[in-house]
Amino acid sequence: MILVTGGAGFIGGNFVLDWLAGRDEPVVNLDALTYAGNLETLARVASDPRHVFVHGDICDRARVDQLLATHRPRAIVHFAAESHVDRSIHGPGEFIRTNIEGTGILLEAARAYWNTLQGVAKEAFRFHHVSTDEVYGSLAADDAPFTEDHPYQPNSPYAASKAASDHLVRAWFHTYGLPVVTTNCSNNYGPFHFPEKLIPLTIVNALAGRALPVYGDGLNVRDWLYVGDHCAAIRTVLERGRPGETYNIGGWNEKTNLDIVHTVCARLDELRPDANGPRSRLISFVADRPGHDRRYAIDARKIGRELGWRPAETFDSGIRRTVEWYLANPGWVANVQSGAYRDWVNKQYGAST
Ligand SMILES: NC(=O)c1ccc[n+]([C@@H]2O[C@H](COP(=O)([O-])OP(=O)(O)OC[C@H]3O[C@@H](n4cnc5c(N)ncnc54)[C@H](O)[C@@H]3O)[C@@H](O)[C@H]2O)c1
Repeated sequence: MILVTGGAGFIGGNFVLDWLAGRDEPVVNLDALTYAGNLETLARVASDPRHVFVHGDICDRARVDQLLATHRPRAIVHFAAESHVDRSIHGPGEFIRTNIEGTGILLEAARAYWNTLQGVAKEAFRFHHVSTDEVYGSLAADDAPFTEDHPYQPNSPYAASKAASDHLVRAWFHTYGLPVVTTNCSNNYGPFHFPEKLIPLTIVNALAGRALPVYGDGLNVRDWLYVGDHCAAIRTVLERGRPGETYNIGGWNEKTNLDIVHTVCARLDELRPDANGPRSRLISFVADRPGHDRRYAIDARKIGRELGWRPAETFDSGIRRTVEWYLANPGWVANVQSGAYRDWVNKQYGAST
């Protein structure tokens, strides 16, 4: 089996669902259920014996040790993190704790466990660290996209905490030989995305006829990848990636934030027309985020060349699937907005967690 951390979050949740839809290998899912953890995302596998949910913190070394000893996973896929840049600006402490200390604790626990393995099991073990393109800093309009060799220049507390975690992972490979792989991915979008991030926020506000906030001039550029493609890339790197290597993952989809909001509005207008007119009328420019990176772009040629991964979705097909998912799942969104999703841990798992 594999151990996933942060599997009740946006990407981890999609990863667990896709994993169990595609293979029988069980997943132990360790998640602290912060505001970003939502067991409703995992409703489809709530009573699936291949999914073992554990309500716990990656900073709890004894808990992690006990899980590793009990379940003896062949790999750890580490998603758990504080992930929202705006929250990191208001309160960086949790980012330092989970992203840096938590990763350090997990690495130490993984190293101790890995040292108990022998032969093929020891050789095959992987610690897969899921990271972000934000560690590389900001690009000018005509700069080449980030390769794996781009210097680290993180600008937000979030990016700095992820950069620090990447350095720890690298050091555990070089110093102790722990077989790690790191992936640095661009902005994800898709189902089960917490509606404080740009695309779900735009969908939810546009459906409610509320203002669609866009930072600054709206011309910050991000590379966007459908979450299912990210999950497929992680599975690929987990199976075939070389220990000690990092792989950039991206969608070859550079878009300005304004483009994104216009595209989402257009899909909504098409799928659910608004009698009051095009939803782009709701766009409202707001004061820019401090230290807002201008442009990220990912050069994903290495993972394509070495491991044969390429995104399956185009931006148009991925956005259409995403908008359709939000239209079909108003209950998931409503429970996030009302806070009712936080009751799920008791309702679904009770004392067993
Ligand atoms: N969202 C993106 O666009 C994106 C892009 C590239 C990389 N990433 C990385 O992918 C990973 C997952 O991102 P996401 O968007 O799904 O994040 P998310 O915020 O939606 O989910 C994070 C999950 O981690 C859990 N968690 C937080 N602190 C924990 C702790 N101390 N112990 C155990 N669990 C804890 C939360 O409860 C939540 O379920 C992160 O490491 C992030 O840096 C995200």
